[in-house]
Amino acid sequence: MEIRVEQGTAETYPCELMLLFAFESPEELIGPVRAADIAWRGFISALMKQGDFKGELHERRLVYTQGALPAKRVLLTGLGKKSEFDLEKWREASSKAGQYIKEAGFRQFAVAVQKLDRFSETELAEAFVVGLLLGTYQFNEFKTLEREKIKEISEVVLLADPAEAIRPLQEGMRTGKIISKAVNGARDLVNGPANIVTPTFLAERARELAKNYGMEHQTLEVGEAEAMGMGAFVAVARGSQQPGKFVVLEYNKGRGLDTIALVGKGITFDSGGISIKPSERMERMKDDMSGAAAVLVTMQAAAELQIPLHLVGIMPTTENLPDGRAYKPGDILKTLSGQTVEVISTDAEGRLILCDALAYSLRYQPRAIIDLATLTGACVVALGDYVIGLFGNDEGLLKRVEEASARTGERAWRLPLWDEYFEYLKSDVADFRNVGTRAAGAIIGGIFLSRFVEKTPWVHLDIAGPASIDKARPYIPAGGTGAGVRLLIQFLSDWRS
Ligand code: BES
Ligand code: ZN
Ligand code: ZN
Repeated sequence: MEIRVEQGTAETYPCELMLLFAFESPEELIGPVRAADIAWRGFISALMKQGDFKGELHERRLVYTQGALPAKRVLLTGLGKKSEFDLEKWREASSKAGQYIKEAGFRQFAVAVQKLDRFSETELAEAFVVGLLLGTYQFNEFKTLEREKIKEISEVVLLADPAEAIRPLQEGMRTGKIISKAVNGARDLVNGPANIVTPTFLAERARELAKNYGMEHQTLEVGEAEAMGMGAFVAVARGSQQPGKFVVLEYNKGRGLDTIALVGKGITFDSGGISIKPSERMERMKDDMSGAAAVLVTMQAAAELQIPLHLVGIMPTTENLPDGRAYKPGDILKTLSGQTVEVISTDAEGRLILCDALAYSLRYQPRAIIDLATLTGACVVALGDYVIGLFGNDEGLLKRVEEASARTGERAWRLPLWDEYFEYLKSDVADFRNVGTRAAGAIIGGIFLSRFVEKTPWVHLDIAGPASIDKARPYIPAGGTGAGVRLLIQFLSDWRS
């Protein structure tokens, strides 16, 4: 999809289709839709007064202009109540409009973007592009039949008026494109099946990224990880024929900027290992690398946005399978931190690969560590598929993540890491067990990880729920979602030391 900015207005720009947004009440026709209504001698307000278009959020109505405007058709899209308007509603409405346009088979449209409510042109252009590109995403890579029926919007014009608005719109559009490319890139990786998206595949993608953006890149093979002392990561990787990879990307190395470490769980398929999972819905476990995918694309977005930070992206990636060489319940593993872990369940593998990755991240002396992981089914039970579980050891850092969450509409909700629950992780034969109780499972997973970051400010995002969804939301189609990516990019963009 090509999106560009041109100077023009809704009532003067000739095109096949003009997209116009309206709030719920005809008295609140403001901006481009008002100008169009006046040029159209009150046609839109008449539609609204008669109840044929109410302006409700997500409502859409296509009308023909019959020459009253230079646009042949107008798609009216509702924004809901003006008092409830925010950027999330705007992203939703943009997505709903985009989906309608795409489904109806139009390939081009124009839309006028002007300051609205308390939001600037830049903010609105960014959120519009994000809503549009995320909402019209489809994963078609492996469909071979009837490809000609796949619909696509090829050209979008954002109209700026007056000419001074061109720059702000272009800026917002550019940011929106970068963010959407990252999120949709993560979706592609999550939707990609485990027979294609292997640890080797992810490592190769990281290598390409490093090459294209001048990042430092290092992939440790399992043997090297073993020599370094990553006994937990190595134990998980041993159960599979696909070689595990411990992938590290570094952006802006050595420029005296604040260092932030991003750590992502990269289990390309989680069968549970010897503690094998029930087969029902096991196919979903190809999404168990969503954390690593988020880290990978966020590194790319950070480079494209030239965020002034030294970023370290750490992606331990392996399959979790049962095999003759697989690790077993009862095994005791020596982690990179030196602490030992008794394996109770080989299905609690995420915390094992992450504990070595977190310990490894300390070598960079980061100002903050954020990890993302599809860590626990318990987090899905607690918060569902709409909300990210948020944990951490530093109030200031937690607040910053919450601010990024509010700005992006990626919901995150705090859960505690109280010491009382640490009791359940005590082992008779090692320092910890890798599993506590079923109760408070998400918290106990977080507490386990907390033991590997020492005193470094750290946040853990359990994305097990939102990483992939069965039921589409306004700008999140079913399947892999790219959860956490927009939140991370916002967090990094807003970072101040
Ligand atoms: N990848 C799963 C967590 C998961 C479950 C993600 C459902 C998405 C949907 C993780 O590796 C796992 O299996 N966790 C176990 C931990 C338990 C053994 C302590 C779980 O949640 O059951
Ligand atoms: Zn598991
Ligand atoms: Zn897992």
